[in-house]
Amino acid sequence: MTTEAERDDGDGRHGEATLPPSPGGDLERASRAILQSAWRPDGAGGGFCVPNPTTYPWQWLWDSCFHAVVWAHLGDERAGLELAAALSSQDADGFVPHVRYGDGPNPHRDFWGRGGTSSITQPPMYGHAVAVVLGAGLPVADEVVDRAVAGLEFLLHRRRRSRAGLVELCHPWESGCDDSPRWDGVLDGAWSPPAWHAAKGDLLRTIERTPGGAPLANPAFAVGSVGFSALVAWNALELAALVGHDAMGAAARELADAIAARWDDEASTWVDDGPTAAGSGRVRTLDALLPLLVVRRPEALAQLTDPAAFGAAFGPTGVHRAEPTFDPTGYWRGGAWPQLGYLSWRAARWAGDGATEASLQNSLASAALASAFAEYWEPDSGASLGAVPQSWSTLACVVAAS
Ligand code: GLC
Repeated sequence: MTTEAERDDGDGRHGEATLPPSPGGDLERASRAILQSAWRPDGAGGGFCVPNPTTYPWQWLWDSCFHAVVWAHLGDERAGLELAAALSSQDADGFVPHVRYGDGPNPHRDFWGRGGTSSITQPPMYGHAVAVVLGAGLPVADEVVDRAVAGLEFLLHRRRRSRAGLVELCHPWESGCDDSPRWDGVLDGAWSPPAWHAAKGDLLRTIERTPGGAPLANPAFAVGSVGFSALVAWNALELAALVGHDAMGAAARELADAIAARWDDEASTWVDDGPTAAGSGRVRTLDALLPLLVVRRPEALAQLTDPAAFGAAFGPTGVHRAEPTFDPTGYWRGGAWPQLGYLSWRAARWAGDGATEASLQNSLASAALASAFAEYWEPDSGASLGAVPQSWSTLACVVAAS
């Protein structure tokens, strides 16, 4: 990897990201220690890492899948155990809840209307994670692979599709990108943290469910999200290739085609389908570039490192710099997020764009060190934001070593 950020500093907004002489070793040592202290044994020999012991003391679905990717890189069998725990609350319809509270008290029981888990899902990163863990030669129980297939089939075949064929979200939190400006259009008034908080409780009440409680659709939030759909397609393609599931592979490719058709030259991004299509569904956010995992589009990829777009020494930024909503320290409003950095780097690798890949590798590795492995960070300085340390920022050690 490069040892210094190759960043255009011409407009004076970007700091210089400089890595220490052996960042890979430093990152791996620190990552192992962070995951080790976040590890919580769970039931019969399994377990998981809390995202942060104080701020996030339970198990989150997509976080755990990212942790499994890091455990696999570190050669630790907890990779498969963490996936087993993440998928253990799956219901008979294939739905996987996004938070597991375990046996302890659940302070959100009334909010979710159920005990041990939440009642919505999160991006199905388990398709990718299963492929990575098995690819590293570490064990994943057959039952866990079956559950991953069932979880993706639920999203591909049971979750409602938008008119343009995209997978609909039932709640903004299902995207994992909770306060992304992409969802602003469903609010009655202007976006503000308190307005959003109230709306998020209300939005749970309108979700339509299977008799068992699996979320199928939400008339009050019928957003066909290009970002979430891309993660469904990408995870399904990885898992389908691994287990030889041709039908799932075909469904995922069909979804990828529907996503590709949502590119809008004028907006320079992929546009969501549904109620926000003419408004906030066109805001240039990083989550809206996740289609780069399944669709080749060099001009979209170039935005990731363009200093006038998403490029930053510790980037990419979470929102395009030219958007009125861009706030480099705001929660999901412009700060840089490690899991999106990892996915962006994966997209650059898939595209065979070595320069973008190296640049994203360098910024994520630099940022993890500069921010002390924060939940997210200020993209130009690397200053920590949110919880510190956050387990998913250890993805930097995977990226740095590749
Ligand atoms: C926040 C993030 C979500 C993540 C969770 C735990 O809610 O928005 O994506 O899964 O924290 O890290």
